[in-house]
Amino acid sequence: MPTHTTHSDLPMVVLVSGEGTNLQAILDNSANGSLPVTVAAVISDRSQARALARAHAADVAAETCLPAEYPDRQQYDAALIRLIDRHSPGLVVLAGFMRILSDHFVRHYRGRLLNIHPSLLPKYRGLHTHRHVLAGGEREHGCSVHFVTETLDGGPLIAQTKVIVRPDDTEVVLRARVQRQEHRLYPEVIGWFARGRVQLDGEHVVFDGRRLQAPVMLPAQEQPA
Ligand code: GAR
Repeated sequence: MPTHTTHSDLPMVVLVSGEGTNLQAILDNSANGSLPVTVAAVISDRSQARALARAHAADVAAETCLPAEYPDRQQYDAALIRLIDRHSPGLVVLAGFMRILSDHFVRHYRGRLLNIHPSLLPKYRGLHTHRHVLAGGEREHGCSVHFVTETLDGGPLIAQTKVIVRPDDTEVVLRARVQRQEHRLYPEVIGWFARGRVQLDGEHVVFDGRRLQAPVMLPAQEQPA
């Protein structure tokens, strides 16, 4: 596993599939000095991902690893690992990377692989979380950052932010409200990791030297519309 001797410039790779608004939040926080990381590369499984343009605009290497070019998941994931490891990252961040990763991939990056998910896990794993939250009549919703393990959307939770669900919410409105909080939560947690404040210990998250019994709740910054 690559090591970093200072906490000032943790090299990281970001995996993306789509818009890249979370990537943008990470890039912005890195550029303004509030996040002690260097985004070494952004890698997408989709050549049209807008996230790649965001990487270009920030002078960050923007690369693709396209599933159609590999016969199966194992070989795709092996190629992805090779691509990522060229950058010797101390942290790999999934930011809207919409592929299921093989156990081999997840084990390779164990303890240095983070994901953000648009729900208050363990509720609403998988896709279309905002739709399911509305259909379920929930009063609150939110986002979670967790270490990735072999269980899909089930790795140890680090932190969450809650938002209110309003009676007249649509999926689009609710997604936007959750994403505003994602853009704050993810850089915050990445900063904790980069400064050595959070680690994975077996199946448990250690935060400031103590094993977490529940995820850290980061209050929503604004009371969203
Ligand atoms: C984010 O809302 C993220 O939570 C979600 O995809 C979106 C990506 O948006 N991730 C998942 O659903 C993973 N299961 P972005 O490309 O604008 O950052």
